[in-house]
Amino acid sequence: MRLDKFLADMGYGSRKEVKQLIKKGLVTVNGQVIKSDKAQVLETQDTVCFEGEPIVYQSQFYYLLNKPAGVISATVDSYEETVLDLFSEEAFREDLFPVGRLDKDTEGFLLITNDGGLAHQLLSPKKHVEKEYYAQVEGIMTAEDQKTFAKGIKLDGEWTLPAELQILNVDEEETRSEIKLILHEGKFHQVKRMVQAVGKEVVYLKRIRMGGLSLPDDLALGEYRELTPEELAKLQERG
Ligand code: URA
Repeated sequence: MRLDKFLADMGYGSRKEVKQLIKKGLVTVNGQVIKSDKAQVLETQDTVCFEGEPIVYQSQFYYLLNKPAGVISATVDSYEETVLDLFSEEAFREDLFPVGRLDKDTEGFLLITNDGGLAHQLLSPKKHVEKEYYAQVEGIMTAEDQKTFAKGIKLDGEWTLPAELQILNVDEEETRSEIKLILHEGKFHQVKRMVQAVGKEVVYLKRIRMGGLSLPDDLALGEYRELTPEELAKLQERG
């Protein structure tokens, strides 16, 4: 690939900006200063350095974001803050996007990547990748609800796949319940609509797992970090 594309891809600036850096002699390829932006490099073999620092080429990026409430699962929006607005200038890339959607008021696990193939695998209804949610509910969730969810529910004329409902806690006095719910698909507002279908209301919702990867405890709300190779492998296994 062209040297200017290599540098632009790795976040050193726009194509125009990196051309200037190359012209200034700040870039070496295999130890040689290269001043032509048209020079070709083999991204996995050549050693490209900027001001003496080697640059490891990476074409695909995977971030796990602990989405806070109040931001929308989109890339750009004129009015609302998006999940990509949470990214620093260094980490931000135009081609990043969230894999699937969490509602504006939902928190938790959101993968942000530029890997369309993995996104497709994780979202395809045929793959049935598990998504696990923790929710607080207004109302008492019952063993009957567990059976109903296990059979699947008709939402606006369309059946959901069977879902596993775990009742973590029931507060009879406050008429509140805490649940975990495992879904094998991702219909619009699915958790909220399933709970509504059994006569109760979700008042707090957080996604805590997707496929084989759980939201790490040490990732605070609003924070994101790159997936480790092991974490990525866990996502790909089940994807
Ligand atoms: N189900 C919902 O109702 N909302 C979400 O954000 C995710 C799943």
